[in-house]
Amino acid sequence: MDSIFRKDVLRGKIALITGGGSGIGLEISKCLVEHGAKAVLLGRNLKRLEDALGYFQKDTCSIAQCDVRNTDHVAKAVKQAIDLHGKIDILINCAAGNFLAPFETLTSKGFKTVIEIDTIGTFNVTKEVFTQSMKSGGGIIINISSTLQMPAVNMISHAAAAKAAIDSLTRSLAVELGPRRIRVNGVAPGMIEGTEGLSRLNPAKDVKLDGKVPQIPLQRSGKKSEIAQAVLFLILAEYITGQTLVVDGGLVLSFPNFTLAFPDVFQAWSSKL
Ligand code: COA
Ligand code: NAP
Repeated sequence: MDSIFRKDVLRGKIALITGGGSGIGLEISKCLVEHGAKAVLLGRNLKRLEDALGYFQKDTCSIAQCDVRNTDHVAKAVKQAIDLHGKIDILINCAAGNFLAPFETLTSKGFKTVIEIDTIGTFNVTKEVFTQSMKSGGGIIINISSTLQMPAVNMISHAAAAKAAIDSLTRSLAVELGPRRIRVNGVAPGMIEGTEGLSRLNPAKDVKLDGKVPQIPLQRSGKKSEIAQAVLFLILAEYITGQTLVVDGGLVLSFPNFTLAFPDVFQAWSSKL
């Protein structure tokens, strides 16, 4: 996808991306580097991070193994980034976990696991980046949200609660950190093709949810690059803060419970209940 932004708009900027080793996070990382930034990718799986490095030219990207639930890991990874670059200008909170689970069988541990990765992980990394860099230098934070909590979908109560809390954090921190020259925004992707997130929502093995999708007002699933471009727009939009931008081709407007748009997927979900 051609970029509508100048290739040097992020020259001199340092970006830290959680979940940067795969999927949407990796695409965002590539996009920021293509526009002049240097990236630091965080994730748990070292091999995945090392493989991701292969997409970048030398010295434009580094990695740090880190579980965002672990405050010691987070402090160490952020320090490593600052020792290397001296600052962090852009934080993308993209790390997340999800699975389909009916409320009836979802355990307290399962609910807690997703809240800890998505919401508390976002808090942990934001807090450490604020303390070690943005408190004095300002910056931009983008939280990757979803549309599953807008207003609600069955079998994802854990992830919906986690993302709703993230949306709230986006607004609260925008208000509290605005005077510190820190903007906080979110991007809420819809159905994004070729991702782990979409495949986990589709237990109907023979149903395709990507490519041409007539149920979506724009008639197709989204591309990872379209999420990355939305993130880049919000990084550059200097008077926008506290907003979560939905990037879903209009699906949530017409099918807030997206399974209802896909009878075969709905059938597969129902059989789990
Ligand atoms: N259905 C119901 N509950 C589940 C589940 C499933 N498919 N998978 C995990 N859980 C619950 C269980 O309670 C589990 O504990 P238990 O195995 O002792 O019962 C608990 O979650 C923790 O699972 P575990 O696999 O030990 O956690 P983890 O920290 O290693 O992994 C996950 C976190 C579960 C979110 C894992 O799927 C993951 O790493 N996901 C990252 C990738 C991803 O989800 N991408 C899409 C982003 S939207
Ligand atoms: P993905 O490739 O599985 O991305 C999730 C990333 O988070 C992985 O790189 C994973 O790496 C990392 N991660 C998970 N748990 C972590 C932890 N505890 N600590 C550090 N890193 C962790 O899935 P994706 O579909 O691209 O999703 C990316 C983001 O988009 C998520 O926030 C998701 O909720 C959001 N989203 C996606 C869609 C979609 O259609 N795909 C729709 C709406 C929202 P490791 O396993 O190596 O840790």
